[in-house]
Amino acid sequence: MAEILKVAMPKGRIYKKASELFRLAGLPIPMDVDDTRRLVISLPEAGMEFILAKPVDVPTYVEYGVADIGIVGKDVLMEENKDVYELLDLGIARCRMSVIGLPNWTPGIQQRVATKYPNVASQYFREQGQQVEVVKLNGSIELAPLIGLADRIVDMVETGQTLKENGLVEMNSLFEITSRLIANRVSYRMKNREIQELCDRLQKVIVAEEANR
Ligand code: PRP
Repeated sequence: MAEILKVAMPKGRIYKKASELFRLAGLPIPMDVDDTRRLVISLPEAGMEFILAKPVDVPTYVEYGVADIGIVGKDVLMEENKDVYELLDLGIARCRMSVIGLPNWTPGIQQRVATKYPNVASQYFREQGQQVEVVKLNGSIELAPLIGLADRIVDMVETGQTLKENGLVEMNSLFEITSRLIANRVSYRMKNREIQELCDRLQKVIVAEEANR
């Protein structure tokens, strides 16, 4: 008998894209699941159980094995650096990680960078040989240069609308972000057949979507 796969799904902006991808892959995920406030959802027809987690916590649930697999942005994966397998690039929720600042920015003696991604930002500036103080914020990062908390920010850019409306400019792009399918190392062995079958189904959809892009 097939084992149930426990899937850590990110609540918020990626969720609908991820559940849509599962549906395109032929998994029967009822539409009403998208709007529920329940956090653990049993989906026996799909052979799954969804665990609706805060995106930044998805790698933690998967690393500890309370979820077998998970869907998470490359941004979170880079920042959290957890011991999990990255199985697939799902090609959804495409955006980029960038350094952003005011248009008239010039390097000062003391540079401060605000971000939700302190590990990513610190590593980037270290590699660039730039000495900066990294300040961790939890959201609305674009505020920081506007009100003088930081000279620059490291943040995600999707449409560029937030930057534009706040008079900020993108200075460098660090890397492309898409959502990834990750797996717990033990689950990957113990539930290999189920995980592999899911990957094969998803891969077909990803290839088809890629061709339409
Ligand atoms: C993200 C990111 C930017 C914005 C970029 O914020 O931090 O602020 O989206 O998107 P855009 O280029 O399409 O405007 P999010 O909406 O996740 O909220 P947050 O500010 O609380 O992080």
